[in-house]
Amino acid sequence: MQFTIDATQNKARACTIKTAHSTIQTPVFMPVGTQATVKALDANDLLSMGAKIILGNTYHLYLRPGSKLIKKFGGLHGFSKFPNSFLTDSGGFQAFSLSDNSKPDENGIMFRSHIDGSKHYFTPQSVLDTQYDLGSDIMMILDDLVALPNTKERIKKSIERTTKWAKEAITYHKQQQEKGIGVNQNIFAIIQGGTDKEFRKMSAQQLCALEDFDGYAIGGLSVGEPNQDMYDTVEWTTTFMPENKPRYLMGVGTPEDLIENIHRGVDMFDCVMPTRNARNGTLFTSFGRVNIKKAMYKEDALPIDEECDCYTCKNFTKAYLSHLYRAGEITYFRLASIHNINYYLTLMRKAREAILENKWEEFRENFYEKRAKK
Ligand code: GUN
Ligand code: ZN
Repeated sequence: MQFTIDATQNKARACTIKTAHSTIQTPVFMPVGTQATVKALDANDLLSMGAKIILGNTYHLYLRPGSKLIKKFGGLHGFSKFPNSFLTDSGGFQAFSLSDNSKPDENGIMFRSHIDGSKHYFTPQSVLDTQYDLGSDIMMILDDLVALPNTKERIKKSIERTTKWAKEAITYHKQQQEKGIGVNQNIFAIIQGGTDKEFRKMSAQQLCALEDFDGYAIGGLSVGEPNQDMYDTVEWTTTFMPENKPRYLMGVGTPEDLIENIHRGVDMFDCVMPTRNARNGTLFTSFGRVNIKKAMYKEDALPIDEECDCYTCKNFTKAYLSHLYRAGEITYFRLASIHNINYYLTLMRKAREAILENKWEEFRENFYEKRAKK
């Protein structure tokens, strides 16, 4: 992977990441495609919006349809026909979100399948084997994350395990690459430590000392802590991260969260928010959120956002979307998801432009001003 910093303004960065499948300009939002599809969309929808990288999920794809099957179809790229980059998460987050069905120990995580109850043990090495089959451009290591708030002992255990697993993962990855496996694939470590400054520092220093990683993620946030704690933790953690590698904040967040964390030095984001909210009737615009469920939109002849250049806004009224939503039509999901994903991708492109033009501070102020005027 090639990584260059194109411009910085204070802590905000505009960078370029080149993988085997695409050139990614940052700050970047990566739409979530857990099941090798961004829900309600296909590869062409994503391409027409300019998506250069999307997410996939090791845990889900390992269980169904199975990574060997996906490998037969040319990995995630061949299977889904999305030709740009994929990042795959490791399963560490699923251990957390499906915690009734998972149990970590010193060597890995035991999962009980949410599909058929069968048992599967994930290790730092096995999740890489799965990701080699998936052929993702960026692979995440197995990590041990904890809900917040939590005890010091549990958070300490989480960073110790995550460092141990990171060392095993990077050693294994180097060995596999020497054998010709995963040579075009990159690997990121995940910093844990809750909102505790000492633990975050320790985790960041231990992982960033393992210099063979291609990038570093900040994990374990947006898991129940107040927003300001997340911002403070990111601001603190980035000071221990190298400048010459991508920084990825996992599972974050709202448009406001993206702006605040770009401001604190983050390059990459992912979140289910634009797609999940679309399906629930919440649409993002530059002047704030539109709740399409409201009666006031039943006869509204305007698009969701007159300034938006997405397919949905170019062609359809809020009245039509309101009707499709109320009627439970599948088309609503697609049109709403296109708008919300386009909003997130466009917000990141404009943020990048602002950093390149040395206008980041104005851009950030303007972002909030427009919302306040609503
Ligand atoms: N997605 C959101 N947060 C996390 C995290 O801490 N670890 C992993 N593996 N995935 C995440
Ligand atoms: Zn739109």
